[in-house]
Amino acid sequence: MRLSEDIGIDLGTATFLIYTKSRGLVLQEPSVIAMTRDSKQVRAVGEEAYRMIGRTPGGIVAVRPIKDGVIADEGLTEKMITMFLQKVQGNTGRLLGFGGFKPQLMVGVPSNVSDVERRAVLRAALNANAKRAFLIEEPLAAAIGAGLKITEPLGSMVVDIGGGSSDVAVISLGGIVVSESMRVAGNEFDESIIRYVRRKENVLIGERTAEEIKVKVGAAMLVDDSENLVAEVRGRDLINGLPRTISLDSRDVVEALAEPVTRIVEGVKRVLEITPPELVSDIIDRGIVMTGGGSLLRNFDELLRQTTGIPVSVAENAVEAVAVGTGMALDMLSVLGDSLVSSDYYLRR
Ligand SMILES: Nc1ncnc2c1ncn2[C@@H]1O[C@H](COP(=O)(O)OP(=O)(O)OP(=O)(O)O)[C@@H](O)[C@H]1O
Ligand SMILES: [Mg+2]
Repeated sequence: MRLSEDIGIDLGTATFLIYTKSRGLVLQEPSVIAMTRDSKQVRAVGEEAYRMIGRTPGGIVAVRPIKDGVIADEGLTEKMITMFLQKVQGNTGRLLGFGGFKPQLMVGVPSNVSDVERRAVLRAALNANAKRAFLIEEPLAAAIGAGLKITEPLGSMVVDIGGGSSDVAVISLGGIVVSESMRVAGNEFDESIIRYVRRKENVLIGERTAEEIKVKVGAAMLVDDSENLVAEVRGRDLINGLPRTISLDSRDVVEALAEPVTRIVEGVKRVLEITPPELVSDIIDRGIVMTGGGSLLRNFDELLRQTTGIPVSVAENAVEAVAVGTGMALDMLSVLGDSLVSSDYYLRR
């Protein structure tokens, strides 16, 4: 990889992605870091750290530095950015370019990040020796990455359902016109499945098991009976403390997810209600586009179509859309101008 190449980053709650123009997606790993409990020494990052969740011995903890779409631990987030950059470059983690050429970095961040968090991310980028760093709001990056023509005077609606947050945004002329960010997304789905299994079967299952159930047999709704799938699930019986295998089907999961799924649908409706009429008319013509891993929940698009009466599609690159969009945004600096936060100005203020 050309070390001076401009780089786009999706700093997701669940997944961290790095995108470059010439090589495309160069890294996609869980946003997890494992460290020793006392000395806070980093032991692993990404895939390797993810495998340690729920399986660490006393002295080691595996944590997600970004929770519910907000940066929970600044220092660790900075560390994670540096380590992942290092990984794709195979050097010291500094983005040293040829002939003193330094790259620019575009980082997608949740729309509700605070001032302190923005600074932390920009600092992390500059510490990795970027010439300049920009922040872009995730739904805007998602729309760009999904191929929506966002610079035209036409309304587009994107619904990005990630791990920690769901973002609904209406975009026109390169900027977000109205939006809403909800702290309910994939992780909350997993927790709802855990609660459901505990309530119904008196069995405790882990976070990763719940996620597996969601992906394998889960759905937002079932269109007909043939869509009902069954999964065998292992957990701990809460009555006698012993392992127990139960079976769950898609209907169970639809029921378990009804509440969080409905909250997201309600959020989409609220945004539509406050969207200026001309833009609503564009959205009806062009349809709503879904992105993010959570949008892959079976029939979520169908449910949204039925509840809003508007055509809905899931972006082909739903999971990578934000990362791809951050990379593409580096070529759109002049049109996106006001929608970006630049280290040049922000860190000096
Ligand atoms: N096929 C699938 N069905 C349902 N959920 C899925 C599927 N694939 C991935 N997910 C879920 O998508 C979520 C991760 O999505 P994504 O990678 O877009 O999140 P993120 O960008 O890291 O989070 P955020 O945008 O909230 O910061 C996880 O909760 C994961 O379980
Ligand atoms: Mg995301």
